[in-house]
Amino acid sequence: MIDINVKAGHADKQRDDAVVLPLLHGRKLSESGLALQQATGKTLSAFLRKQDIDGEFGCSRTLYGVEGAFTQRVMLIGAGEEKKLTLHKLRVLAAKAARKLDKGGAQDISLFLTELTVRGASLSDKVQAITEGMLLGLYRFDKYQHGKAENKRKLRSVTIMLASRRDLDEAEAAVARARAIANGVNFARDLANEPGNVCTPEFLGQQAASLSHPKLHVTVMDKKAIEKTGLNALLAVNQGSSKEPRFIVLEYNGGNANEAPVALVGKGLTFDAGGISLKPGPLMEEMKFDMCGSAAVLGIFKAVTDMSLPVNVLGVIPSTENLLGASAYKPGDIITGYKKDISIEIQNTDAEGRIILSDALAYAAEQNPTEMIDFATLTGACVIALGAHASGLMGTGKNLKKALKISGDATYDRVWELPMHEEYQEQIKSDIADIRNIGGREAGTITAACFLSRFVGDIPWAHLDIAGTAWNMKGSDISAKGATGTGVRLVVDYLINKTGESNPA
Ligand code: BES
Ligand code: MN
Ligand code: ZN
Repeated sequence: MIDINVKAGHADKQRDDAVVLPLLHGRKLSESGLALQQATGKTLSAFLRKQDIDGEFGCSRTLYGVEGAFTQRVMLIGAGEEKKLTLHKLRVLAAKAARKLDKGGAQDISLFLTELTVRGASLSDKVQAITEGMLLGLYRFDKYQHGKAENKRKLRSVTIMLASRRDLDEAEAAVARARAIANGVNFARDLANEPGNVCTPEFLGQQAASLSHPKLHVTVMDKKAIEKTGLNALLAVNQGSSKEPRFIVLEYNGGNANEAPVALVGKGLTFDAGGISLKPGPLMEEMKFDMCGSAAVLGIFKAVTDMSLPVNVLGVIPSTENLLGASAYKPGDIITGYKKDISIEIQNTDAEGRIILSDALAYAAEQNPTEMIDFATLTGACVIALGAHASGLMGTGKNLKKALKISGDATYDRVWELPMHEEYQEQIKSDIADIRNIGGREAGTITAACFLSRFVGDIPWAHLDIAGTAWNMKGSDISAKGATGTGVRLVVDYLINKTGESNPA
């Protein structure tokens, strides 16, 4: 675990292995850089005169042996134009600097990034963004690669430098918040990156049960309990698998005892082969990520309990594999799940996410939550529509959706709304049952949401289709290849805003 501190001080006095200074567009040093330039010999000025780096966003140079400075290395990292800076750019800068210095073997580093001005952002916003960027950017999933784990992380401690001692308390609180959030995201990533033979429904149940907090209660239903409860849609999808399903219920009561909870529902398909409507071979291995919705819910619970957030949250996770075998459910089957008054015609066994979610949503709705948010890698169509940079947002909760858009922009865990006009509902009409589980080629993301909508009742609801955002085999600025942990930062921010305990600034 990396130690993160905050401190007020000057760049020339820091004794760390490295001091990171921003360089703005046009080779302009910021405050601490100028002070270092003044305090030390010619090295820095001479370097800048050589015009080797002009402050373009994201590029960096490391100088060794800057005379008169105590640090071993000075890293100049390009911050671009100051007026174009955003909190997300701070995350990216911190991630890049930390990754590069860690690779280079630095153990203790200090960052002078808070002196950058970001429009509309408070100091604690900036400290939170820097901390998040570092912890998310340093994440690796290399436990199965021999030699990599031994080649351990070099970076031990990071000091975020502040201009004034007066800001220490505020900054420390921001670090704690960011650490809880990043741990939640990285927990979600860890679960999702595990292969399907390790991360089974049973494993997900164990991981949920491993979360601990005096105000958290976790119930993991096994197959027998699921049968008794009548979660028959989940059981139908599970028929093709030799592994037992699980139905996980998490109750965190950090808020008032008499207040209804926010319900979070996550698709926990630990491997989706498509069932009898078998998927094609190429990239099928990525279907181990079909439980990223459940990972998001568990990551949120981890962060929320870490912070002891004063809010009530109910988590519901249906979990199974979708495989094919002699007992598997089939195209043409008609099933009735937990909600007894809706019969479902199965036309494609690969549209299984909406089936297991129908039970989870109906179950959650029965607990009368104030609102429901579900997370699901639900449709390939959403990957086509929005790609990797925004999750699909749909649902009935107007204010909820508005608030999620705001949190999405603030955290850069972004969402984009698709419409749910009445007419789309017609596409899921069945000739033989009440509804069918596919809606034809057109608007596949929306018709999947229409299917879900039948099970939520009157409760304000938001559906997040995270099929395009939940994993990324190219990696991104703040995520290694694999699971991104999408949804965690988004909804933790939403919940923090709800408590009204967000940054006073
Ligand atoms: N888990 C998949 C959706 C998916 C596909 C997510 C590719 C990410 C990448 C889901 O269970 C599924 O198979 N959906 C089908 C629905 C179709 C049969 C109506 C799809 O999108 O092809
Ligand atoms: Mn499927
Ligand atoms: Zn699926």
